[in-house]
Amino acid sequence: MNIKNSTALRTHLCGDMRAENIGQVVTLCGWVGRRREHGEHLAFLDLRDFSGIVQCVVDNTVDVRSEWVIRVTGKVQARPGGTVNANIPTGEVELAECKIEVLNNAEPPPFPIDQRGDDVDENVRLKFRYLDIRRERMQKNLRLRAAINSAIRKSMESQGFTEIETPLLMPSTPEGAREFLVPSRNEPGSFYALPQSPQLWKQLLMVAGMDRYYQIAKCLRDEDLRADRQYEFMQLDAEMSFVDKDDVIAMISTAVIAAALAATGSEPPPIERMTWHQAMNIYGIDKPDLRFGMTLVELTSVFTATEFKAFASAESIKAICVSHADYPQQAASGRNKLDALTERAKKLGAKGLVWLKVGEAGALESPVAKFLSPAEQSALVEQTGAVAGDLVLIVADTWATTCSVLGQLRNDLGRPPVHQGPYRYVWVVDFPMFVGINPTTKLPQPGHHPFCHPHPDDIDRLETDPLSVRALAYDLVLNGWELGSGSIRIHEPELQRRVFRYLGISDEDADHRFGFFLQPFKYGAPPHGGFAFGIDRLTAILAGEDNIREVIAFPKTQSGSDPMTNAPTVVESAQLKDLGIRLLPPAAK
Ligand code: AMO
Ligand code: AMP
Repeated sequence: MNIKNSTALRTHLCGDMRAENIGQVVTLCGWVGRRREHGEHLAFLDLRDFSGIVQCVVDNTVDVRSEWVIRVTGKVQARPGGTVNANIPTGEVELAECKIEVLNNAEPPPFPIDQRGDDVDENVRLKFRYLDIRRERMQKNLRLRAAINSAIRKSMESQGFTEIETPLLMPSTPEGAREFLVPSRNEPGSFYALPQSPQLWKQLLMVAGMDRYYQIAKCLRDEDLRADRQYEFMQLDAEMSFVDKDDVIAMISTAVIAAALAATGSEPPPIERMTWHQAMNIYGIDKPDLRFGMTLVELTSVFTATEFKAFASAESIKAICVSHADYPQQAASGRNKLDALTERAKKLGAKGLVWLKVGEAGALESPVAKFLSPAEQSALVEQTGAVAGDLVLIVADTWATTCSVLGQLRNDLGRPPVHQGPYRYVWVVDFPMFVGINPTTKLPQPGHHPFCHPHPDDIDRLETDPLSVRALAYDLVLNGWELGSGSIRIHEPELQRRVFRYLGISDEDADHRFGFFLQPFKYGAPPHGGFAFGIDRLTAILAGEDNIREVIAFPKTQSGSDPMTNAPTVVESAQLKDLGIRLLPPAAK
C-alpha cells in the first residue's frame, strides 16, 4: 500500500528514516523522548511519533523537555561508526543541523513514556490513559487489535457473511448474565437492557432470511471483573442458516486462523477437537489448557475392593501426578504446602485429598499409605506413571467433583501464564444441555443459553434424565481461556417452549417476556446455528498479555471504575427526576 505520510506540517514519519534518506532534508513532528547530553555543545533527542523514534542531534542550549510537541527540520545523516543502534529500525541514521519549532509544551508526565512501565500503578496508568497509550506497548497492542479486527472482517466477508448492526437498547433477555439497565424517560418505570450479546437479534436475522450474518459487536455484562472480563467487550458474532455444527466450526476456525496469521505471521496448526466429556475426564475442566501434562488418571478400578474408607464407596477415583522432573518445587512440597493443597481441595468441594510421595523403588510416603494394600500401591504407581521424587494427588468423589477438583489443582500447580506460547487451540464439543440442578429453586441450570438445540438422540430424555442430555453446543478454547461459544439453535417453536417450561418459564411468562422472540419462529424459522468469540481475549493472548485491559483503549479497573473520567458518577437530581427515579439512601455496608 502506498500511504501518503506527508502532511501540511511534516514531510516524513520519524520511524521511516533509513539509510536511503541520507542526504535529504526532512521535516518531522512528534514528542520529545529521551534526551542525552553529549559533550559540551551537543545533545541527542529522541523524537517520537506513532511510527517510531529517530535520533536528532541538537545544540545543547535548545530548551525542549520531555513530551513537548515539536517540529524538527534537519538533514538525515549516517550515524558515525560505532554509534549505530541495531535495536531500532532507524538506528543507522540521525537528524543533524536541526531547526526546532515548539508546537506545544507539556508538563512533566506522571511516568516515563519511553519505558514499558510494568511497575507503574494500574490506577495511575488508567488515570492518565492518554499518556499510557502514547507508549510503545499500548501503541503496539491497539494496532495489533486493529489488524486482528481487519483480518476477521476480511475472512467473514470472503466467507459470504453480511455485516449487520443490531440495537444497543433492547428488552431484558434470558441469556444468563446480569444486565445493565437504561431507564426510559418516555415511559418512567420502564427500562431498556443493554445487550449481553446480539444473540436474539442474530437469530431473528436468520428468520428474516439473511442467511449469514456477522458483526464485531459491543456486548455489556454487569459481572465481577477479572483478567479476562470487562463490563464492555467485543465479540465476533456470527450466525448462519441451514448448517450443522461442523459448518459453524469450520467457519469460525477460518476466521480465527486468519486473525492469528495477521497477528503473529504464522498460521496455527489445524485446531484439535475433543468432547466435553473427554475434556472433563482428562483435564477436569471445560476449558482445557493443552500446553502442559499432569492430566487426570483414572484409578477407580484400582480401589474396587479397598479397605481404605475414604475410597471405599466413591463413584470415581482419579489422580494427578506432579512430576519432579517438570515441577521440582511443587513435587517436593513440604507438609505445610501439602496441608494447604488439602484445604484448597476441600474449598473446591472435595471431602479430602490424599497425597503420596514416591520414593525409590516405588515406596510410598503418605499418612494413608498404611491403609492401601501393596497391590493397590503398585497399581497406582503404575497407572500414574509416577517415578521417584514425584507427588501423586488423589481425590475420590462423584465423577463431577473428582474431575473439577483435580482439574483446578492441575491448573494451580502447572498452568503457565495464558499468553506464553505455544498457542494451543481446541474445540470442545457436545456440551451438556444442563450443568446441574439449582439446590434452592430445584430448577435445571442451562449449560449455555436456553436457545441451544438438544442433541437429537437425547431429546427424549429432556424431562426424565435432563443431566444426560447433550446440547449441540461447542466452545473454542485457547491456552485455557474460553475464547468463544456457540451452538445449533432450537428453531422449532414447540421445542423452545418445552425447554423454557423445563427451565421454570411458563408459556405465559415466555410470551410476556420474550414474545417478540418466540412469535417470529412461527413464520418459518430455518435451522440455524452460530458462534461468538471474544476479540479482547484473542488479542490479549496474541499480544503476549495476560489481562484484556492491556488491549482495550479505555478499560475499567478491577472494581469497575474509570480513574480518568471518574465514571460511574453521581448525576444531577433534575436528570433523575426526568427519568422518574428517586434514590434510596445508600445501603449500610
Ligand atoms: P458467551 O456468553 O459464551 O456466548 O460469550 C462469547 C465470548 O465472549 C467473550 N466474553 C467476554 N469477554 C470479555 N469480558 C466479558 N465480560 C466477557 N463475557 C464473554 C468470551 C466468550 O467466550 N451469544 C452467545 C454466543 C452464541 O451462542 O452464538 C454468547 O454471547 O470470549
Ligand atoms: P479421614 O478418614 O477423613 O481422616 O481422611 C483420611 C485422609 O484421606 C485425609 O488425608 C483426607 O484428606 C483424605 N480423604 C478423605 N476423604 C477423601 C476423599 N473423598 N478423596 C480423597 N481424599 C480423601
